[in-house]
Amino acid sequence: MNISNISEQTAHYIALEEKYGAHNYHPLPVVLERGEGVFLYDVDGKRYYDFLSGYSAVNQGHCHPVILKAMAEQSKKLTLTSRAFYNNQLGVYEKYITEYFGYDKVLPMNTGVEGGETAIKLARRWAYTKKGIEENKAVIIFAENNFWGRTMAAISASTDPSSYKGFGPFMPGFITVPYNNTEALEKALQDKNVAAFMVEPIQGEAGVVLPDEGYLTTVRALCTKYNVLFIADEIQTGLARTGKMLACDHENVRPDILILGKALSGGTMPVSAVLCDDDIMMNIQPGEHGSTYGGNPLACAVAIAALQVLKDEKMADNAVAMGNLLREELAKLQSPFIKTIRGKGLLNAIVIEHKNPDASWDLCLALKENGLLAKPTHGDKIRFAPPLIINKEQIIETVSIINKSLKILA
Ligand SMILES: Cc1ncc(COP(=O)(O)O)c(C=O)c1O
Repeated sequence: MNISNISEQTAHYIALEEKYGAHNYHPLPVVLERGEGVFLYDVDGKRYYDFLSGYSAVNQGHCHPVILKAMAEQSKKLTLTSRAFYNNQLGVYEKYITEYFGYDKVLPMNTGVEGGETAIKLARRWAYTKKGIEENKAVIIFAENNFWGRTMAAISASTDPSSYKGFGPFMPGFITVPYNNTEALEKALQDKNVAAFMVEPIQGEAGVVLPDEGYLTTVRALCTKYNVLFIADEIQTGLARTGKMLACDHENVRPDILILGKALSGGTMPVSAVLCDDDIMMNIQPGEHGSTYGGNPLACAVAIAALQVLKDEKMADNAVAMGNLLREELAKLQSPFIKTIRGKGLLNAIVIEHKNPDASWDLCLALKENGLLAKPTHGDKIRFAPPLIINKEQIIETVSIINKSLKILA
């Protein structure tokens, strides 16, 4: 069902993408041209609440002035040197981010998936040089329903056929265990060749799946017990999204390797980072890993600003307060079509219950008509993850938009 009244220019831009672009996404039929704070505007000037935030890349809000200022200033001076030479931004950024998160070193990359790849390379190298695993025998454990991107390594770790089917052969040395199951993890850790367990503290793409309280604490303890690296993929959960700077902070656990991306640039450009201590990081020598754009001066200036505004504007605290309010107000709707409301901070999802398998998509179309943009994930789940600067009045207004839109399912 398509309830959208699409303007001529909207149809024009959609047709361009259809004809000239790969069909590797299925977007909602809205064409955006401007963003400001919690809002997006389409080519016809219509305003929407952004409840996706670029899959949590825009935690700081669209076009945050402090981030844009850093970007504009640095872009006039120097944007890329490659790592063939030093630049006057990289070291400053490296000091800033390692102090911010409390690790010895950082390895800068661009996209999130490159961060994941980097973490795995670091873990394998550590396994061979420090743990004493025989070359080419290292095993990395992942959780079922993980999502960390679209490269061959990422899809080799995936348990979702729509990610991996038809793209084999796959990367060896990867196994999966059920998420939120520490017995299964401990069993897998019996293998002496295990180098690392890589896990999202809350599974984002799987539909905002929260593990039981204490899961991360047990994961930390088990990884320590078996001398296995705990890699936390905080690309979606990190940077204040769940109400703490890192989702691991909710249980006060410190991963051995921390992967960040997305909001590290506040949605302005691809910036990712892998943080760990020297014992892990210093096993990589010059020429063994890198990226042309990784650590470019523009990204460094932008990332410092993006991290600084998270703290200056107390976005983690706002995520806690607004997340609680959002879930409370959604619960009050008592909609028969909302089976579950779950989340932490402003990383939330509802699960739709309806006889029509397209109900979530239809609801998202209705939300769009009523001025709110959200996207279904895995069929029946819809993520509600606005920028972390959203205020109380705006939450109340968005819940009334959701309430009005739910009528479409009746
Ligand atoms: C938890 C997690 N890890 C990694 C990635 C991959 O990031 P990117 O799309 O920037 O490669 C994503 C993207 O959604 C993610 O949610």
